[in-house]
Amino acid sequence: MEKKPFYITTPIYYPSDKLHIGHSYCTVATDVMARYKRFQGYDVMFLTGTDEHGQKIEDKAREAGVTPKQFVDRIVEGDENGQGGIKSLWKLMNISYDRFIRTTDDYHVKSVQKIFERLKNQGDIYKSVYKGKYCKPCESFWTESQLVDGKCPDCGREVYDAEEEAYFFRLSKYSDRIIKLFEEHPDWLSPASRANEMMNNFIKAGLEDTCVSRTTFSWGIPVVSDPKHVVYVWIDALTNYITALGYENDQYNDFERFWPADVHFVGKEIVRFHSILWPAMLMALDVPLPKKVFGHGWLLLDGGKMSKSKGNVVDPVVLCERYGVDTLRYFLLREFPFGSDGVFSNEALIARINADLANDLGNLVSRTVAMVGKYFGGTLPTEQQADPMDDELIAMASGLRDTYEKLMESYTFQAALVETFKVISRANKYIDETAPWVLAKDEANKPRLARVMYNLLETIRICSSLLTPFIPDSAEKIRQQIGATEEQFTWETAGVYGTLPADVTVHKGEVLFPRIDLKKELEELEKQQKKAEKAAKKAAKAEKKQEKAPENVIIGIEDFAKVQLKTALVTACEPVPKSDKLLKLQVEVGEEKRQVVSGIAMCYKPEELIGKTVILVSNLKPAKLRGVESQGMILAADAPDGGCKVVFVDGVPSGTTIR
Ligand code: ME8
Repeated sequence: MEKKPFYITTPIYYPSDKLHIGHSYCTVATDVMARYKRFQGYDVMFLTGTDEHGQKIEDKAREAGVTPKQFVDRIVEGDENGQGGIKSLWKLMNISYDRFIRTTDDYHVKSVQKIFERLKNQGDIYKSVYKGKYCKPCESFWTESQLVDGKCPDCGREVYDAEEEAYFFRLSKYSDRIIKLFEEHPDWLSPASRANEMMNNFIKAGLEDTCVSRTTFSWGIPVVSDPKHVVYVWIDALTNYITALGYENDQYNDFERFWPADVHFVGKEIVRFHSILWPAMLMALDVPLPKKVFGHGWLLLDGGKMSKSKGNVVDPVVLCERYGVDTLRYFLLREFPFGSDGVFSNEALIARINADLANDLGNLVSRTVAMVGKYFGGTLPTEQQADPMDDELIAMASGLRDTYEKLMESYTFQAALVETFKVISRANKYIDETAPWVLAKDEANKPRLARVMYNLLETIRICSSLLTPFIPDSAEKIRQQIGATEEQFTWETAGVYGTLPADVTVHKGEVLFPRIDLKKELEELEKQQKKAEKAAKKAAKAEKKQEKAPENVIIGIEDFAKVQLKTALVTACEPVPKSDKLLKLQVEVGEEKRQVVSGIAMCYKPEELIGKTVILVSNLKPAKLRGVESQGMILAADAPDGGCKVVFVDGVPSGTTIR
């Protein structure tokens, strides 16, 4: 029979920093869905990739002293051995993507140029002047009414007035069709709360045309007919879902087969672009819409965002190395409902591994396999005796696949796992109820004992085959331990109780999920964290040393006189996002207000600096650090521990000249 296509996508990630566990979350969920569909017999196309253009990347590359392409190559492909990049992370996490798109790939660039020109020629894209509030980290323009407390509604950071010549996509033209889409297809965007949010916060307010080009930076796809413009992020990024199938290019030719996508999985902050702008763009191109968009929640740390680690390890590579890939995959989908936010902690991860995987599943498998070995030399006899007390377990195991399917089809991964583990717990209880060790005492009970073992093996087979999408390697090990063949470990056989032959032979194997000593492990993690902090301080010190002027250089007073030093009062201070080292300070230098970025975050908390008077090199050429403008430099002394001590001159009025 011809396999049915199933097309699923993750967002394409910004290769601006190392990915953290929050990024892995969506990718693991997509992988689970892709594996589940393959398990069911679909011809799956699982697309992921990287979104490589934009000012953020351009700034970062400049800071790193490399070209933007060199910068993204390193983050995506890894070092010369292919290690340490996004692709190797996905390999480590067993992500079974079928295609990886990089928006710097030639074929994508050319397709985007064609798409842009087509929309321009047909009047869906036009040139105008953009005036608005711009959030640089999010690369988003906002209208006044969209701001929350005057700040970016997505990330809560400062926005500033900006104006530039730009091309616009005529989103307003598609307002009615977007309203109709939401009204006629209430399931098109899930969860329902996100659909309501879009309708109430954006669509009903009236859709405004949206800016789709930039002239203020050059790291982007040039507009062919007006090359001082580069295509702005969303036309470049969203179209990846179709260019990767061969839309407007010859690189691939499975657009007909896989489009429209079955589902786009995206994080909640980019739902707006996927559920409003993307369908409107497709309408303009006369391309069918994806069948569904699912907006998942965020993993947070103690209510805060992921980038600010508070004693928790959030590097997925470290987590996989310490606890195993499958355990991490399991945890991510079991701990948090897919549509909601969740708080990540190492403690919760370890508790979950111990409770579900070591105690419930691991124990069930090892006890059962050990008992079949001990009582029957590893192979069950065919003479077996059933008992009505088996019925409940058999009914639960037999009905699991249907329940699981319903839950997986609605992307409620957590519920699908809960239902599976209910059956696993029931099987553990069944061991206590049937007390095999008592049955084993009497030879006459052997047929009964054999049936008890068979029921346990069958339950394990059904549950672990359904767990394959979540924990592929462990499920395979379980398959081998319980003596099931690959043919007995399929989607079809997960729905057929009694698939294993009566005289099945088990094979004792390694411990699947070792228990973790929570207290010891948390202590160890804390130690590691401290070590990492120390190493970071040392590295910062080394970096600073490099910045220092060479020793023994004598300068004349006329050189020193060029340096203007003034006192400055710190009025506000906050960390620079995605940087461990930098703080952003607002200072007053007499009447003048300035913003200064300083590499002192390792040594001072923002609140320790507010209200202090510091010394500022006030005539330093403005520079951008991590994309944030810095107008001057604060004086600080190197501390013996590798840290620093800011020079405070409290009490001296701000704006005073220092000589
Ligand atoms: O948004 N928890 O890229 P990105 C859960 N390039 N998900 C998280 C998360 C967290 N703590 N942090 C980030 C982009 N994510 C664009 C997408 S698609 C055409 C273009 C998720 O690297 C985030 O919600 O900033 C988003 O879905 C994905 O990671 C990529 O984020």
